[in-house]
Amino acid sequence: MTSKGHFITFEGIDGSGKSTQARLLADHLRDLGHDVILTREPGGSPGAEEIRALVLQGDPDRWSAETELLLFTAARRDHMERLIQPAMDAGKIVICDRFADSTRMYQGLSRGDLRAKVDTLHELMIGREPDLTILIDMDPTQGLARAKGRQGIEERFEDFGSDLQEKMRAGFLALANEFPDRFRKINGAQDVDAVSRDVQTVAASYLSSSD
Ligand code: TYD
Repeated sequence: MTSKGHFITFEGIDGSGKSTQARLLADHLRDLGHDVILTREPGGSPGAEEIRALVLQGDPDRWSAETELLLFTAARRDHMERLIQPAMDAGKIVICDRFADSTRMYQGLSRGDLRAKVDTLHELMIGREPDLTILIDMDPTQGLARAKGRQGIEERFEDFGSDLQEKMRAGFLALANEFPDRFRKINGAQDVDAVSRDVQTVAASYLSSSD
């Protein structure tokens, strides 16, 4: 699958501020004249948004890890077919709040070791990694306080508590080491403007090197 566009993802634990940073980067790149699509997972296309409600609402034990993996992958496939791939083919910059690295962490690590299944299914059904992944790294205690402060109904994962978030943080840092070519780590404990400046620097460096 070859594409003319750029595929940038944001990853991090719940409450790391990545959604805000994804939006700020989209605004910034639009100001510079780029054609940008800002999207998120799970979701991003009408079908995938319906699956989002299934996976994020309800009891933490509503689905087994395996079922969840299939649902997230189904949502991603639809998102890829309907939104991401067409935008890439049109030469746009796609910025996505979470992508397959979240599945590698949340479904791959949280309840048993399903990482090999996650990777196999990804290769079979998605077959594409981001060009650049920005990891907003921060202390889970801080992140969880922010996430809980939002008090939404999408709390299945946030309900897993701080032990899981610790594990996720370490897992994301390990993933960054596993895929050093595309991962860039940013300190999310700084104020929003400082994080945003770091994000812009990383994005600019990627875009200039890919021309
Ligand atoms: P998100 O809407 O990004 O929440 P937040 O802004 O709080 O980070 O993601 C919702 C939840 O979905 C989050 O707890 C992580 C989880 N998730 C998975 O478990 N697997 C996945 O593949 C994705 C994309 C998200």
